[in-house]
Amino acid sequence: MGRAKKVVLAYSGGVDTSVCIPYLMHEWGVEEVITLAADLGQGDELEPIRKKALDSGASVSLVADATATFIKDYAFPAIQANALYENRYPLSTALARPLIAKLLVEAAKEYGADAIAHGCTGKGNDQVRFDVAIAALNPELKILTPAREWGFSREQSIEYGEKYGIPAPVKKKSPYSIDRNLLGMAVEAGVLEDPYAEPPEDIYRMTKAIADTPDEPEYVEISFVKGLPVALNGQALDPVALVTQLNQMVGDRGIGRIDMIENRLVGIKSREIYETPALLVLIDAHRDLESLTLTADVTQYKRSMEETYSRLVYNGLWYSPLKAAIDAFIAQTQEQVTGTVRVKLFKGSATIVGRKSDNSLYSLDWATYGEEDVFDHKAAEGFIYIWGLPTRLWSAQKRG
Ligand code: ARG
Repeated sequence: MGRAKKVVLAYSGGVDTSVCIPYLMHEWGVEEVITLAADLGQGDELEPIRKKALDSGASVSLVADATATFIKDYAFPAIQANALYENRYPLSTALARPLIAKLLVEAAKEYGADAIAHGCTGKGNDQVRFDVAIAALNPELKILTPAREWGFSREQSIEYGEKYGIPAPVKKKSPYSIDRNLLGMAVEAGVLEDPYAEPPEDIYRMTKAIADTPDEPEYVEISFVKGLPVALNGQALDPVALVTQLNQMVGDRGIGRIDMIENRLVGIKSREIYETPALLVLIDAHRDLESLTLTADVTQYKRSMEETYSRLVYNGLWYSPLKAAIDAFIAQTQEQVTGTVRVKLFKGSATIVGRKSDNSLYSLDWATYGEEDVFDHKAAEGFIYIWGLPTRLWSAQKRG
C-alpha cells in the first residue's frame, strides 16, 4: 500500500520534476501519476514538455493555458495593492504559486486523484506557498514532496532518472536557478551566491544594459480604470497584451532590474536578481494615480495594508481570511482610481512626469499661489492654535 494511489504532479519538464514520476511510482507505491504544466507566459515550448512527461511515465500529461488568468486575477489585483515585498520585490514568482495550486487541485478533482505532488526542495518559499494553498483549497488532499525527502544530488537525480529511461539533459545545466513567467524572471545561485559579486550581464533576458539603450527618451501613457491597467498610449489592450508590450518598451530602456537580499519565510537570507519591467512601472504609475484620486487618510491607511498584503502573498497566504478582508478594502478604494499617468522611460529609469483623472481631488483654485487662490489664509491661525495646543502645554510643563 503506497502513500497515495493517484497523484497530480506539478510539472516543469526539468530533470527533478521528471524524476519525481518514477520515484513516486517505484519508491512510494503510487499507481498513477498525472502531470500538469502551467503556461504562465514563460515562453517555453510546451509540446515537448507535455511529451516528456508521458515518456517519463505519466499516464496523462496536462498543459494548462493560464497566462490570461495569471495576469487578470493574480497580477492585476497585486498592482491595485501596490504590492512590493520588503518594499522592492513585486512578487512575480510568488503570485504564480496560488494559481498553479488551484490548477492542481482542480485537476485532482477532475481525475479523482487523492494526492498532489511537487518537486520543491525544503529550503524555499515555494514549497510553503504550494502546500498552504493546496490545503486551503482542499484539505483532504495529501501532499507528496519527493525532493524534500530523497536527498539526491543533481548527479544522483540524473542517474536515478536514467534507470527509468529519462535521458540525461543534453545541454550543460546553467549554474543558475531561474524562475520565469510573463511578469518577470528570478535568478539565483552560481556566482550570485556571493552578495558582493556584481551580477554578470548575461543573466538578463528582459532588460537591456543601460549602455545599449537609446539616447532619446520615450514616453508612455498608462491608463487605469478602477485601478486596473487598460490602455497604453490611448490604445485599449487586454491584460496579457498590455503587460507584453510594456515589458518590451520598458525593458528596451534598461528598466526593471532588482538585485536584492531578501528574507525568506524559512528564516534564511537569499540573494535574488529580478527582472520585472512592466510590473514595476505599473505599480509606480498606479500608486501615483492613487495620490491624485484618493483622500489623504485613505492613501495613508492603504499603505499599511499594502505592506501586510505583500507579506501575506510572499508567505503563501493568498487564500486566507486576512487576505480576503484586505482584498475587500482595496476593492473599495479602487472605485476612484481611474485616469492616465504619463511616464518617461530613459536610461534605466521610469519617471512619472504627469497624471490626470476625472476623479482628481487636486484643485487648482485651492493649490495655486496665483490670483485665483480661494484658500482663506487667516483661517490657518485658529487651526494652528488648536493643532499646536498639546505641544505648547507639553513644552510649558517641561520648562517648568
Ligand atoms: N525569491 C523569490 C520568491 O520567493 C523567487 C523564488 C524562485 N527563484 C528562483 N531563482 N528559482 O518569490
